[in-house]
Amino acid sequence: MSNKKVQEKVIAVGLILPTISRSAAEEHLDELEQLIETAGGTVVDRVTAKRPSPDPATWIGSGKAEEVKRLAARRGATLVVFDDDLSPAQSRNLEEAIETKILDRSGLILDIFVRRARSREAKTQVELAQLEYMLPRLTKAWSHLSRQAGGIGTRGVGETQLEIDRRIVRTRISHLKSELVKIERTRQTQRKARGGAFTVALVGYTNAGKSTLFNRLTRGGALAADQLFATLDSKSQKASFEAPRETVVIDTVGFVRKLPHNLVASFRSTMEEAVSADIVLHVIDVSHPQFEDQRSVGEDVLRNLGVDLEKVIEVYNKVDRQILSREDGEGSSTPVGGGFFTSLRTNAAKISALTGKGIDRLVGLIANAELEGGEVLDLEFPHDDSRMLARLHEVATIHHQRQTDMSTLVTAWVPKESAQIFLPYSATLLLNRVKVS
Ligand code: GTP
Repeated sequence: MSNKKVQEKVIAVGLILPTISRSAAEEHLDELEQLIETAGGTVVDRVTAKRPSPDPATWIGSGKAEEVKRLAARRGATLVVFDDDLSPAQSRNLEEAIETKILDRSGLILDIFVRRARSREAKTQVELAQLEYMLPRLTKAWSHLSRQAGGIGTRGVGETQLEIDRRIVRTRISHLKSELVKIERTRQTQRKARGGAFTVALVGYTNAGKSTLFNRLTRGGALAADQLFATLDSKSQKASFEAPRETVVIDTVGFVRKLPHNLVASFRSTMEEAVSADIVLHVIDVSHPQFEDQRSVGEDVLRNLGVDLEKVIEVYNKVDRQILSREDGEGSSTPVGGGFFTSLRTNAAKISALTGKGIDRLVGLIANAELEGGEVLDLEFPHDDSRMLARLHEVATIHHQRQTDMSTLVTAWVPKESAQIFLPYSATLLLNRVKVS
């Protein structure tokens, strides 16, 4: 980030419950560490607490809280981050016990979103999520924190806002909600403007390679960066590959494990792009040791949004890399493309968005999906029948059009429901489905 402030020293804390292994808990903490770094902090130590269940008062238990307090003092940490959502009461108790600023996973992710929000829509969505998150936590502790030097978890919402009462926060929340309704209307208008174009939405875990793939499938322009949540705004652009229909590709915000529900709710309109798209490419980084978890997080989000899983194509990305063996974590590696793909769906593609490997097959799958709802027809319209030609232009995707002395010859993709009315104009019925190797 541009303003290089002194990095906040952070302690990351996780729970090991009977349902997960130590190595899975460590991997979750690795991800938390990455999120903390994305928010501008440096992890100076980690603590794990093994418990049969979370402690209702302090999540990790009062003994562990005491240990974290001593560690924070010793390491000079100014922030302790917990790898789960804490209740407002747990947050208060922990803050009192540890005597250091604390943040839970949702608070941390919200902080990252605040940094990343650029457009009016993203800013409104993030502020709404942040206020809803803060509302039950609005105590003296927050206004006290706001007077400190700032840092992770206190950005975004202005200092004065932290000191105002809940009633005003509620008023602001309802104002933001009505703003979002207006923004959603604009978005619907934009969707309509895409007309009959076929839409392909890219979704996936943060850092999976969505923007890199977006740039490969279009003329580019999306920021691809080795950062979490580099993209907050959904972007759309015409596809640059040859396809039976006019095609628009849409890049969307990334997913993460335990995405705060306030964020899911306020980013709904952005994610709706995936719901209304004709097909969804679920991008999965197979070089990541936890790619299977990330894949199921993605699937859960899609299911919760109401996306029809039939229209999802799984895209296994970064096949140019090696994947670390997940069992031992000792660094032994298996080339991508080995046994990991035995459970591959038929509607899936292995690609490297970076090198371009496998993109042709992916484009073939998209083209096949495009052809499904209609046919490519060769049509001939006599010059005295311009009305039907105009009608064709309204419903079809025109591939070629050529004038002869007597008529206009057109090759076009025509949706099934309209194909019937154009059949009398058909020269030959072309069943030229695109072949997939
Ligand atoms: P968010 O915006 O965080 O949701 O990320 P994203 O899914 O848009 O990922 P992005 O395209 O920004 O890529 C993340 C990182 O992975 C970048 O450093 C890319 O260069 C890298 N990357 C993307 N695709 C590939 C690939 O096929 N192979 C390799 N080796 N790296 C890739």
